[in-house]
Amino acid sequence: MYLSLQKRSRLWMKISEACVLGFAMLLVMGHLASAMDVTVLSKMNALNGTNVRLSCTFNSCYKIENSKFSMNWTYKECHNCTNVTFLQYKHKWIYPKDHQFEGRVNFTGNLNKNDVSVTIKNIQIDDSGLFTCEVKNPPDRQQGRGVIDFNVITEVPPERDSTIAVIIGASVGGFLAVLILILVVVKCVRRRKKQELISDEQKIEEEGKMDGEGGTEEGTKCQ
Ligand SMILES: *[C@@H]1O[C@H](CO)[C@@H](O)[C@H](O)[C@H]1NC(C)=O
Ligand SMILES: *[C@@H]1O[C@H](CO)[C@@H](O)[C@H](O)[C@H]1NC(C)=O
Ligand SMILES: *[C@@H]1O[C@H](CO)[C@@H](O)[C@H](O)[C@H]1NC(C)=O
Repeated sequence: MYLSLQKRSRLWMKISEACVLGFAMLLVMGHLASAMDVTVLSKMNALNGTNVRLSCTFNSCYKIENSKFSMNWTYKECHNCTNVTFLQYKHKWIYPKDHQFEGRVNFTGNLNKNDVSVTIKNIQIDDSGLFTCEVKNPPDRQQGRGVIDFNVITEVPPERDSTIAVIIGASVGGFLAVLILILVVVKCVRRRKKQELISDEQKIEEEGKMDGEGGTEEGTKCQ
């Protein structure tokens, strides 16, 4: 009676485990089937005056057909600001005009590799804001989008400098510490050997040697 109860509860455990697992798999599969994942860096820092590649790639269940595929690269200065489209794909690449990025935009992706990255030349302070990469690839029903929180800086942040300094300092310090340790160990071993030798010899000789070297203190320290 006791055994069968245990068996039954084990069976129930297994069934419920399988249910949970199955449910999780369903969720994952549903997610894969429905979502068109767009991958961007959610946060980017760029140095004033540099050329910056805004990377954007996507997954789609369907191969790209140039006649159906479409995408927009847009920019807005703040969450509540107006959107500016600075690169668009609709049958072909379109570079809209009359905006702050005019003449600085280059497509640097590869449509065959689901890569719609763009490069902006000569980044300016007021290019800070939100860049959005939006992709439609029918018959994929879902539209994918990725948003980059883009921040332009005028100098290399001091944090990085100090981390490098800390790394260099730590390595040099660590190296020195190891070196000193090795020296101390070698010295101690030598002294111990010497003392063993000395203890085998006569006391008069020992005194003479130690005085001559002046290392009586260290000799006792290392024992
Ligand atoms: C941005 O960089 C340019 C040189 O690339 C420099 O002349 C300019 O002063 C910089 N702007 C700011 C605000 O630091
Ligand atoms: C791109 O923008 C155009 C017009 O603003 C819009 O009609 C189209 O649906 C957008 N495409 C994507 C993929 O967001
Ligand atoms: C966004 O802009 C609208 C007007 O265009 C304004 O009414 C609203 O308060 C703004 N929201 C924020 C969060 O700034």
